[in-house]
Amino acid sequence: MILVTGGAGFIGANFVLDWLAATGEPVVNLDKLTYAGNLGNLASLSGDDRHVFVRGDIGDRDRVDGLLREYRPRAIVNFAAETHVDRSIHGPAAFIETNVVGTFNLLDATRAWWAALAQAERDEFRFLHVSTDEVYGSLDAGAPGFSEVTPFAPNSPYSASKAAADHLVRAYRHTYGLPTLTTNCSNNYGPRQFPEKLIPLMIVNAIGGKPLPVYGDGLNVRDWLYVGDHCSAIRAVLAGGVPGETYNVGGNAEMANIDVVRSICEVLSEADPDTDYAALVTYVTDRPGHDRRYAIDAGKIRRELGWEPAETFASGLRQTVRWYLGNADWLASVSSKDYQKWISLQYA
Ligand code: NAD
Ligand code: TYD
Repeated sequence: MILVTGGAGFIGANFVLDWLAATGEPVVNLDKLTYAGNLGNLASLSGDDRHVFVRGDIGDRDRVDGLLREYRPRAIVNFAAETHVDRSIHGPAAFIETNVVGTFNLLDATRAWWAALAQAERDEFRFLHVSTDEVYGSLDAGAPGFSEVTPFAPNSPYSASKAAADHLVRAYRHTYGLPTLTTNCSNNYGPRQFPEKLIPLMIVNAIGGKPLPVYGDGLNVRDWLYVGDHCSAIRAVLAGGVPGETYNVGGNAEMANIDVVRSICEVLSEADPDTDYAALVTYVTDRPGHDRRYAIDAGKIRRELGWEPAETFASGLRQTVRWYLGNADWLASVSSKDYQKWISLQYA
């Protein structure tokens, strides 16, 4: 079996569902259930004994040691993290605690357990760390996309904490020989994403007739990766990636934020032509230190592992909008008082 951390969050939950459907191999899922974790994401697995959920913190050494001893996973996929840049600006401490100290703890517990395995099991074992393109910093317009050798230049507390974790993963390979793999991907979108990130926030606000808050001039550029494509990329890296290597994963979909928001409005208008969703667009004060552009050169994973995204931005966005329109109960379940508090704090 494999151990997944953070598997009740957006990408982790999509990965667990995708993994079980694609491989059938059992999963132990360690998740702290922060505000971003939601067991409702995994409701379709209730009663499925291929999925074992454990509530716990990757920073809890005893808990991680115990899980490794009990389940003896052949691989670990580490999604657990604090992930929202705006929250890292308001409160960076939790990002250091989970993304840096927590990842260190997970690595160190894994190293100690892995070192005592028989040689064949040690060779087969993989520790796959899921990271972000934000570790590379911001690109000028027209500059080539980030490659695996682009120097790190993180600009937010979030990206700095992920960069620190990536360095620890590298060091555990170099120093102890732990068979690590790292993926650095672009902005994900798709079903089950907590509505604090750009795409789900805009969909949810538009459905509710609320303003669509675009930061600054709306011309910051991101590359958009459909979450199902990210899951298939992680499967490809786990199966064929070379220990110690990093792989950039992108969606071939660079877009300015305002164009993303307009596309969401267009898809919503197809179902509801009488509502002028685009009229809800509101320009608001920019994010401090807002990175201007991210872009990915995904040539390495394409050449070496034959992976390419299956979705275009148009097809992925249509599936995403349809999912949010069809899952009002899920939306109600994540729109708690805490969520409202965050929205008031961030958009006051
Ligand atoms: P998310 O915020 O939706 O979910 C994070 C999950 O981790 C939650 O279920 C939460 O409860 C859990 N968690 C948090 N702290 C924990 C801890 N200390 N111990 C155990 N579990 C903990 O995040 P996501 O968008 O699914 O991102 C998953 C991973 O992918 C993260 O490592 C993130 O940095 C990376 N990533 C995300 C994106 C994106 O666009 N969402 C892009 C690139 C990389
Ligand atoms: P986000 O989804 O927070 O991802 P990241 O900052 O990790 O790339 O934001 C994506 C882009 O959208 C980013 O340039 C900031 C912008 N943005 C807005 O304009 N308005 C918003 O309300 C949010 C959440 C993001």
